[in-house]
Order: sequence, then structure tokens, then C-alpha cells
Amino acid sequence: MAQIIDGKAISLEIKEELKEKAEAYKKEGIEVTLAVIQVGNDPASTVYVGNKKKACEFVGIRSLSYELPEETTQEALLDTIKELNERKDVNGILVQLPLPKHINEDLVIKTIAPEKDVDGFHPQSVGALSIGQKGFVSCTPAGVIQLLKRSNIEIEGKECVVLGRSNIVGKPMAMLMLRENATVTICHSKTKNLQEVTRRADILIVALGKPRFITSDYVKEGAVVIDVGIHRDENNKLCGDVDFDSVEGKVSAITPVPGGVGPMTIAMLMNNCMESVTIQNQ
Ligand code: GUN
Repeated sequence: MAQIIDGKAISLEIKEELKEKAEAYKKEGIEVTLAVIQVGNDPASTVYVGNKKKACEFVGIRSLSYELPEETTQEALLDTIKELNERKDVNGILVQLPLPKHINEDLVIKTIAPEKDVDGFHPQSVGALSIGQKGFVSCTPAGVIQLLKRSNIEIEGKECVVLGRSNIVGKPMAMLMLRENATVTICHSKTKNLQEVTRRADILIVALGKPRFITSDYVKEGAVVIDVGIHRDENNKLCGDVDFDSVEGKVSAITPVPGGVGPMTIAMLMNNCMESVTIQNQ
């Protein structure tokens, strides 16, 4: 029987730990603060932002909400970020993506002060990760590492295959697994003989964005499978990039969708907010 990795329980455990830290900070007179900026009212973004604010409330992080209209100019958004960069009472800045078409996302990300970049998207954060220096790590891949560690799954020396090479998940995921001393392969849409590669994996991390793409033919007996995908199928049911029913009988551990990687992203955002206090006081 495969171990079902319970992301909901593990994320709650992390948030409970952070709650204690937040209380300790409050006793020192530090109120950890996250500024969340949303431009426009994309419904999915509104749900994500709402969940982030709820998590802040749970943990005891103060959240400042900036709900800017769709037609906000790039200049106005950059000015808001610069103002928040300067504020001593703001620890983290998060700009919810995607942004409206007339705004350059790369420029926005670059404008956030690296020491407040709790999403870990700033080029300096990405660079620090790849050369093993301190900095914020993108929340979803950081969450996957926590899922593995807190499920007592050894990473060191293991064959790890990451499916997908996005800047937010695939690339930082590969760097983190490398940092944990795994042997890492990254696969993408141009990879030849994909099944041959994925069947080598002791740990297979799937973030390719195709519903139920990974069936049992892609996995080795006893592998650990982490599913980062999230989709709604034709029956409006949530599913991942992995065909759970096909794979479950063959693997030693697997994350479900929902309730696997998903809840970890916000828990790690909360963790980054808490770490920002240390990073800013260095
Ligand atoms: N949009 C989808 N996921 C994310 C995320 O992790 N951070 C931000 N800022 N925007 C997102």
C-alpha cells in the first residue's frame, strides 16, 4: 500500500509552528507584516489572495491589502512597491501574478527589494539558490522538500526526475533537490524517451501542467511520486498531472490532489514571511 502524503496535515503542522514563532516575535515587539498586492480582479487570483490573507490571520502575521484596479499604470504599481520597500514596518511584499497585459512582470518582480521578496521570484533570490547562498526560495518547491522531509523520505543519493522547467516550480525544484544531494534530471516537452527517463526516478516530481498525464507506465515500482499539477477535469473534479488511480498501486508514496502539494505553498509563504525578519536584521 502506498503511503499517501498528507499535505493538509503537514501544512497545518508548519503553520502551528509558525504561530508560536509569531507569538514570540510579538513579545519582542515585532509584528511580522506581509503586503499583498493584487491588480485587477481575476477570480482565481482573488481566491489565492484570500487564502493567503486567511493563512496570515491564522499564523498571526499582519497582512496589508492593496487591491488596485485593472487599469493601474505600471508606474503607479512600481511606486507602490518602492514605497513598501522603504517601510520599516513591512517585512514581505507579494504581487499576485498574473498581472494585466500592460504591466511588465519581470520589471515588477525586479523592483521588489530582495530582502522582502517572500515569493522568491527576484533574480537575486533565484541566483542565491543556485549558488547555495541565503535567500528566499520559491514557495511550492520549498513545500515539496518539506513534504519529503516530514514524511521521512530520504533524498540524499536518490535519482530524482523533475518533469517541467518553469521558473516558479521546475527549475528551483531541481536546484533544491540538488542542494539535498539528489542526482537530478529535468525533463521537458522536448525530452526524448520520456518514459525511459521517468522510470529511473526514485523520486518523481511532476509539474508539467497536463491533467492525469503520468500513468503507471511512467513510474518505477516503489518510487515516490509528487504531483504539483492542479486541474479540473471534465466532471469538474480536481485532479493533478498524475493519474492517481493508475499509479497508486505501484509506488511507495504519493501526494493526492487536492490535499498534497497545494496547501504547502501557502504554508511556505508564511515561513518566508517569518524568515524575512531574520534576513532583514542581518
Ligand atoms: N500566481 C500563481 N501562483 C503564484 C505565487 O506563488 N505567487 C504569486 N505572487 N503569484 C502567483
